[in-house]
Amino acid sequence: MDGSQKPRNNEILPGERAELRNPSSSKQRFETLKNWETDKVQRDTLHLKACPVNVCDRAKCNGSVMNPSQMISDPRNESRSPEDIVQLATDFIDQYYESAKRFKSEAHLNRLHEVKQSIKGQGTFTLTEHELIFGAKTAWRNAPRCIGRIQWNKLQVFDCRHITSTAEMFEAICTHLKYATNKGNIRSCITFFPPRNEANGEFRVWNPQLIRYAGYRQLDGSVIGDPVNVEFTQICERLGWVGKGGRFDVLPLLLQANSKDPDMYEVPTNLVLEVDIKHPKFDWLEKMGLKWYAVPAVSNMLIDIGGIQFPACPFNGWFMGTEIGRDLCDTTRYNILEPLAKQMGLHTKNNSSLWKDKAVLELNISILHSFQSNNVTIMDHHAATESFMKHFSNELRLRGGCPGDWVWLVPPVSGSTTPIFHQEIFNYILNPTCYYQPDAWKLHTLKNRDQKVGKTKKIHFKELARFVLLASTMMTKAMAKRVKATIFYATETGKSLTYAKILREIFNHAFDAKIVAMDEYDIWLLEYESLVLVVTSTFGNGDPPENGETFAQALQDMGNGDNESSSKKFDSVNTVAPLQKRVSFHAKNTTANQDNTSEEQGILANVKFSVFGLGSRAYPNFCAFGHAIDTMLGDMKAERLLEIGEGDELSGQEDSFRHWAQNVFSAACDSFCLKEDVNIEIANASLSNTTYHPSNYRFKSVDIAAEENITGDLGKMHKKHLSSCRLIERINLQSAESKRSTILVKLDTNDSPLLDFEPGDHLGIYPCNQPELVDGLISKLEDAPAKDDVIQMETLKRKNTHLENWEADVRLPPCSLRTALTRFLDITTPPTPQILSLLAECAQDENEKTKLKVLSEGSFAYEDWKFQSFPNFLEILEEFPSIKLSSSLLLSQLPFLQCRYYSISSSPNYHPGQIHCTVSVVSYTTKGGSGPVHHGVCSSYLNRIPAGEKISCFIRHASGFRLPKDPSTPCLLIGPGTGIAPFRSFWQQRIYETSSEAKVNGTMALLFGCRHPLHDHLYKKEVEEAKKLGVISHSYTAFSRSPHTPKTYVQHILENEISDFVFDSIHNRNGHFYVCGDVTMAADVNRAFKSVLVKNGMMKEDSDNYIRKMKSDNRYHEDIFGVTLRTSEVTDSVRKHVRKNSIKPL
Ligand SMILES: Cc1cc2nc3c(=O)[nH]c(=O)nc-3n(C[C@H](O)[C@H](O)[C@H](O)COP(=O)(O)OP(=O)(O)OC[C@H]3O[C@@H](n4cnc5c(N)ncnc54)[C@H](O)[C@@H]3O)c2cc1C
Ligand SMILES: NC(=O)c1ccc[n+]([C@@H]2O[C@H](COP(=O)([O-])OP(=O)(O)OC[C@H]3O[C@@H](n4cnc5c(N)ncnc54)[C@H](OP(=O)(O)O)[C@@H]3O)[C@@H](O)[C@H]2O)c1
Ligand SMILES: Cc1cc2nc3c(=O)[nH]c(=O)nc-3n(C[C@H](O)[C@H](O)[C@H](O)COP(=O)(O)O)c2cc1C
Repeated sequence: MDGSQKPRNNEILPGERAELRNPSSSKQRFETLKNWETDKVQRDTLHLKACPVNVCDRAKCNGSVMNPSQMISDPRNESRSPEDIVQLATDFIDQYYESAKRFKSEAHLNRLHEVKQSIKGQGTFTLTEHELIFGAKTAWRNAPRCIGRIQWNKLQVFDCRHITSTAEMFEAICTHLKYATNKGNIRSCITFFPPRNEANGEFRVWNPQLIRYAGYRQLDGSVIGDPVNVEFTQICERLGWVGKGGRFDVLPLLLQANSKDPDMYEVPTNLVLEVDIKHPKFDWLEKMGLKWYAVPAVSNMLIDIGGIQFPACPFNGWFMGTEIGRDLCDTTRYNILEPLAKQMGLHTKNNSSLWKDKAVLELNISILHSFQSNNVTIMDHHAATESFMKHFSNELRLRGGCPGDWVWLVPPVSGSTTPIFHQEIFNYILNPTCYYQPDAWKLHTLKNRDQKVGKTKKIHFKELARFVLLASTMMTKAMAKRVKATIFYATETGKSLTYAKILREIFNHAFDAKIVAMDEYDIWLLEYESLVLVVTSTFGNGDPPENGETFAQALQDMGNGDNESSSKKFDSVNTVAPLQKRVSFHAKNTTANQDNTSEEQGILANVKFSVFGLGSRAYPNFCAFGHAIDTMLGDMKAERLLEIGEGDELSGQEDSFRHWAQNVFSAACDSFCLKEDVNIEIANASLSNTTYHPSNYRFKSVDIAAEENITGDLGKMHKKHLSSCRLIERINLQSAESKRSTILVKLDTNDSPLLDFEPGDHLGIYPCNQPELVDGLISKLEDAPAKDDVIQMETLKRKNTHLENWEADVRLPPCSLRTALTRFLDITTPPTPQILSLLAECAQDENEKTKLKVLSEGSFAYEDWKFQSFPNFLEILEEFPSIKLSSSLLLSQLPFLQCRYYSISSSPNYHPGQIHCTVSVVSYTTKGGSGPVHHGVCSSYLNRIPAGEKISCFIRHASGFRLPKDPSTPCLLIGPGTGIAPFRSFWQQRIYETSSEAKVNGTMALLFGCRHPLHDHLYKKEVEEAKKLGVISHSYTAFSRSPHTPKTYVQHILENEISDFVFDSIHNRNGHFYVCGDVTMAADVNRAFKSVLVKNGMMKEDSDNYIRKMKSDNRYHEDIFGVTLRTSEVTDSVRKHVRKNSIKPL
């Protein structure tokens, strides 16, 4: 057989058939299934994993038996040994870890051990929430009689295993119905009540379905209502229920908890959606007064997940029209076929007139028409069978089989016109399994004997009203227990975390919201989330923040279906969907009634999400990482609740965030049917409420020794493993003629293994604020404790109205006020509008108060003030002298002082035990040159501290910025100004390698740029030395302010002077391209490189793809410092542009 004839997946080629069907081939490990319409033959191997029970036996086929004993779980006949449970549990846990791509992992083996121990000790075990969700979905996937299984992954699970009473069951069922009904856009969901075990007693919903119509037996034996429910109706009546005697009276719920007698609850009418049946043409049909309920919620089945049995687990999907058709037409049900046919004028005496077929068809048309015109989800049997065929084929491909009960799956009308009719299907039972069970009343003896004679616990109107009220008021509380909202964040400078915390505040009004850092999450759990919110910034040049990198890569791999991490580098910019595609996702996701039945099933089909991206429009790839996450989640078919929000740090970031947060909260409440139960206004208020109250804080003196380990404290605060280095020496690299300083900072690592690094890595440094600013600020405080006393701030916690106690504030470790303001808190970044609103409260002067209030609205006034003055905290207190500021406000509200990164400028081999940095000392005057001079926190700290000073730091590994392994691979290094920093480590590394290993030097070209040949030509001598050693093969310098020469930048040289050399090195010789420094420069260099490619014969579009490919192949490397060159020029022009074009948030 040649490659082209190879069977795809489980398909079998014609020539193979005879052999495969031949029973004599004893080694056959699969069975074949033929489709008689298409002649396609497929293999089923999944049945090999089936439970060893068979619906049929050797002598006869039981295929049409309604309730074969093997599908009934009857506690009276069952005695399961611990060994049986262990076997089922092991198989299930294996399935779970296999699906999570963690088969045989340590976690898997530990879990198996834990489960086995638990079964050994207690005869049972508890499923984790994720296992429960997986089990529920798999049980549905395994259900042979269900035609709608293509949706199996899109199932909302309500975990109510914790409840103990029927009142709570009732509450949960109300929630279930509300969520499932969704104003007609029906959603599949399941509610799990406690499993069967001795401790729990038995929980059962006695009703066969949550919503069903009563059947009243009349004296003449006839029935008003639904005959199938006569027995259940009688039980309700015996328990005191008085039905109205109508044809469509919704039965009450009979709920049993802890093996006690059941309690009865009326289903609140507002939770029962019903559809009146009309015909598109026969107006008279409406007068027949037919109707049906919208949510088919089976409530009497038992689900077995790995040996744990759930006898009470109501679940629902939506109707296929013919099901209702049968409910109304079957002779044992409403039996309306004949009256209907008569109305149609058909001759009902003669069957061969096919009057039954005609009448049933028109009724089915009416049902579909009525549901559709009321926007209530329903499927016709053709669409349903076609989607099943798709599912069947998917399952054979993915799983090697799909159990199915042909007798049930073929629709009751027009069977042979549907594709399923022609398909051979095996029926077998897989665990997790749905079982039938005996009617609850047959297993239960009423303890309260009175109930039998009708003096029952009847729900009086008052009591009923109380329960209805309970249903709505407790719903929110109950939902909060059930629906989790997971807020993922990734951040570099802490803002995303701050926003994530605010988001948690608002979401906790209706959900159980928790915050998770992206790098602390196991991505394979994502499919079990219900509601995912993502708040993330973008870093580098469109890249994820460091703590978002693994998440992004894992999400990409998940989307590609890869088990192992792929070698393809994650690239936000290439992952972002074009705007049009994003918008269409959104439109699709919000179209009622189309989504829920959609066949497109991605792994995240059950996850609802929305993303907020933080970024700056000064960068070419604005919010690229947020968009990439948004695209990936959407591609995996998670449901987008709201279009991505974008927050531009140059324009109204906070405002945009608040706007998005309100909208996404409202959308989430809508989606989970909580809107009526949540006070949205109160919830929204939590977005602007600042939680600071001076009386809630106090200081306690602490032993001075508590402040000993500042590096350790910083590490805890920032969740980083920090070390410390000592300053060896500092050298100014600019000449005496220059007014600026760029310093070479040499640090001693004390051989700390935590500070091992490779050329290309960064050093993160936690700096100290300028002492003058700290002292100035302390001198302005109202209630400053002695500035060097070590204190612990305490917060007053109110557990409930009566209980109050003071707890140590977890934000800051015990330290002096001076240390807090020097080491831990950011006192130079202009405060957020929220902090300004607190300051407004503290201002004594009305004018100042008003001005601060205006600024705190975060409008253009705030933006202008912020970007013109860039005021630090001391300057604010000078601008608003009437502010009476307390120390606790600063300590509780100021953001943390963040680390600064430096591209390491030395090779660990060339300078063992040392780390060198090339630091441009930042100082600038505000207000366009007329304001005070500001000094950069970290660069001026490094420029000020004496030799021997300890510096708290850590290594940030930059795996994407590495020298190629093969030294003969050409490298082009482009870095103007301090952008030269990492390249010094490169050439030092090559010098070391050349001397120690006698390696051949390849092409290493350095393209540097600076202002003036006599001022800031950094490392000129070192570069000349490296050239002499043959390590640097070429060097070029662009001077931008050299007298009598035109202004030249690195990109000009690239494009105009060395274009052929670049093309040859990079394209012909597969070289690596490196750019380091300012983001605008990097974008300009990128453009120049494209033009080099085009000049050398490449089409423009191809040049884009070429660079994209270079990036994913790790041949185009960028090390971006941010907006460092012409900072105020760039930010001012972007802000002007944003305003002019009114780029509105959202
Ligand atoms: C991955 C990476 C690597 C880096 N490597 C290096 C390196 O090797 N060498 C190096 O010197 N730097 C490097 N940086 C930059 C470095 O991290 C710091 O941003 C820089 O040293 C300034 O920090 P600072 O604390 O001194 O200044 P800050 O106190 O942080 O002040 C800088 C801020 O002041 C404002 N500002 C600056 N200039 C102006 C102006 N003219 N007008 C108005 N506002 C202005 C801007 O908001 C700016 O963000 C790197 C950055 C990154 C992200
Ligand atoms: N986070 C920060 O804000 C931060 C961080 C580090 C440094 N800085 C600031 O950056 C400046 C010093 O940095 P530096 O020594 O690295 O660089 P620099 O000396 O200011 O600039 C290096 C060279 O790059 C040129 N240049 C400017 N814009 C360019 C562009 N778009 N493309 C290519 N080249 C361009 C400059 O030309 P021109 O003659 O046109 O300037 C100069 O020749 C200082 O002002 C420092 O305060 C700020
Ligand atoms: C070095 C650096 C690179 C950045 N790169 C981008 C970028 O490519 N795109 C973007 O939209 N924003 C970029 N930003 C802006 C940040 O995303 C923005 O400051 C954000 O508010 C930071 O949020 P965080 O504190 O949660 O990290 C960059 C900022 C820095 C300092």
